[in-house]
Amino acid sequence: MTELHSSSGRVSKQWQYIPGFGNECASEDPRCPGALPEGQNNPQVCPYNLYAEQLSGSAFTCPRSTNKRSWLYRILPSVCHKPFESIDQGHVTHNWDEVDPDPNQLRWKPFEIPKASQKKVDFVSGLHTLCGAGDIRSNNGLAIHIFLCNTSMGNRCFYNSDGDFLIVPQKGKLLIYTEFGKMLVQPNEICVIQRGMRFSIDVFEENRGYILEVYGVHFELPDLGPIGANGLANPRDFLIPVAWYEDRQVPGGYTVINKYQGKLFAAKQNVSPFNVVAWHGNYTPYKYNLENFMVINSVAFDHADPSIFTVLTAKSVRPGVAVADFVIFPPRWGVADKTFRPPYYHRNCMSEFMGLIKGHYEAKQGEFLPGGGSLHSSMTPHGPDADCFEKASKAKLAPERIADGTMAFMFESSLSMAVTKWGLKSSSCLDENYYKCWEPLKSHFTPESRKPAGPN
Ligand SMILES: [Fe+2]
Repeated sequence: MTELHSSSGRVSKQWQYIPGFGNECASEDPRCPGALPEGQNNPQVCPYNLYAEQLSGSAFTCPRSTNKRSWLYRILPSVCHKPFESIDQGHVTHNWDEVDPDPNQLRWKPFEIPKASQKKVDFVSGLHTLCGAGDIRSNNGLAIHIFLCNTSMGNRCFYNSDGDFLIVPQKGKLLIYTEFGKMLVQPNEICVIQRGMRFSIDVFEENRGYILEVYGVHFELPDLGPIGANGLANPRDFLIPVAWYEDRQVPGGYTVINKYQGKLFAAKQNVSPFNVVAWHGNYTPYKYNLENFMVINSVAFDHADPSIFTVLTAKSVRPGVAVADFVIFPPRWGVADKTFRPPYYHRNCMSEFMGLIKGHYEAKQGEFLPGGGSLHSSMTPHGPDADCFEKASKAKLAPERIADGTMAFMFESSLSMAVTKWGLKSSSCLDENYYKCWEPLKSHFTPESRKPAGPN
């Protein structure tokens, strides 16, 4: 890895990660070997005279299979801060009644990134809530945010008391400082920063991306059923940062921003929060490269259901029903015989938000662009545009590459999502003409003949 010079001026040279998903891990900054206490979590005095602090990601009494916590050994405990005070909400909201419900197919042009020369916006001030559902206080629901930023967070960090962030960068790489170490996350990679974890993001250019926030649950790998022990997102490809600390005084005051019950608060402290010298546990941030997804697909005829493309799932209490799934449509071979190969027309009880990281999505050749999005709400019909239908109905069904150079994704939820005022109005990105892509669809019905027209 070459040196990276972020807009904050900090330089990073080294990238190391621990592979695996949800494992018990242990990590020490190599500058302080033996920083982890041996044989216990709470010695009377910790090695290097550090403070011990536990971060819980689950109720203490959760079964072992879902119990999550990590122990952090740090220069000062997180509690050393001035009181939190309410700050400007910007475009962050959890008010799902800002505007009337809209069951229409919705599509957004690429969300505009502010120019740094006009206004400096960091990851937190650049958060815009697009849609969501559920209730933060009862830990049930989700939100979809768009981040649009051009500046590093500098002496500001963020943590979310409400839920987990699954971050999908679309433009520009993110250098993420966390209490567990550093992660470099580039477009076509994703990362998950779980509830309560403090992080600060450095950027190198104008950045755009998508965030799936889930309340009260954590992302898991989907069960594989008859697929077997391997496939889809393999656990070994998830990467966890290694311990890294800075013992940095900040005389002007370091700002800790907290999203709590949907509102933003800020508190000042005199030191960097990234002062964790060693940690162990199974509650950590992690990243994943979407190129490592092992695609399963139909090799005979018809479509498998798109659940075969699930990278991560946040389960609800109902078996098989997700609060939200993160699903991708990666490059792959299309080989199905006697089959209409693009996605079929459908109406889904789930709500589907789609985004595009790069390339061209196969079912929409026109205005579904990288950095934009679409929302097909519960039971709202959708499917390929007219041009796609005509071409795919006549195509010779040779094996073909699909989606090379493309990465589309879906945040799919069992909740019926509301769109925010920013999403429908103030973003000015809503495509009023979306419905027109289906208008040219015409009847091909031939009552006199059962014989399909078929390819020429
Ligand atoms: Fe769909």
